[in-house]
Amino acid sequence: MLNDRSSILSLLETRRSGKPRELVGPGPTRAELDRILSIAARTPDHGMLAPWRFVTVGDDQRDAFEALLQRALAEHEPNTPAAKLQKEHDFAHYQGSLVVLVSAPVQDHKIPVWEQELSCGAAGMNLLLAADALGFIAGWVTGWRTYSNMVREAFCKPGERIAGFIFIGHASRELEERDRPALSDVATEWQPPSH
Ligand SMILES: Cc1cc2nc3c(=O)[nH]c(=O)nc-3n(C[C@H](O)[C@H](O)[C@H](O)COP(=O)(O)O)c2cc1C
Repeated sequence: MLNDRSSILSLLETRRSGKPRELVGPGPTRAELDRILSIAARTPDHGMLAPWRFVTVGDDQRDAFEALLQRALAEHEPNTPAAKLQKEHDFAHYQGSLVVLVSAPVQDHKIPVWEQELSCGAAGMNLLLAADALGFIAGWVTGWRTYSNMVREAFCKPGERIAGFIFIGHASRELEERDRPALSDVATEWQPPSH
């Protein structure tokens, strides 16, 4: 566990996401998960609206989650090939813990929805970092399930959206570094307009 600032820098400079399908259990205990979610909720949030929520899908709810995905897939893609049905079975039963990140913006508020959605993304990033700091690996995925009306209605209130499915477990193999953008491509000096 991290206990000094150099460890925090090391985490920030080396953290990797895991592929949810490759994670192995166990996921966090209830107390560890509460700690991860408490850290995720310590996120910059203009207006203090907490425009995000975390919905945990318990290990004993994975069959029900699969049934939801199968129903949604049948609506999304009638005559679904068996391989795709199997994929939903696998997804619903990935090892580790599953947290559904929900974007819950306050509509018609002076704080634009865009800013509230940015805060949701930041909460997701904090969640990944907190999981890593507690010795886990996490992976954030979206895909068709995120945009299915039926799946959304099973997790969200009106006006909310699924921001992602975040699985938290352990890596089953070493996670090598991936390509990163060159700093010069993403960090530039501002040039004032010349008129
Ligand atoms: C909003 C969002 C959605 C993502 N959706 C997917 C996805 O559907 N499938 C996937 O394999 N990875 C998905 N990812 C993860 C990235 O593809 C990738 O694994 C991750 O950014 C790895 O980078 P990192 O190790 O620096 O975290 C998503 C990430 C974010 C932030």
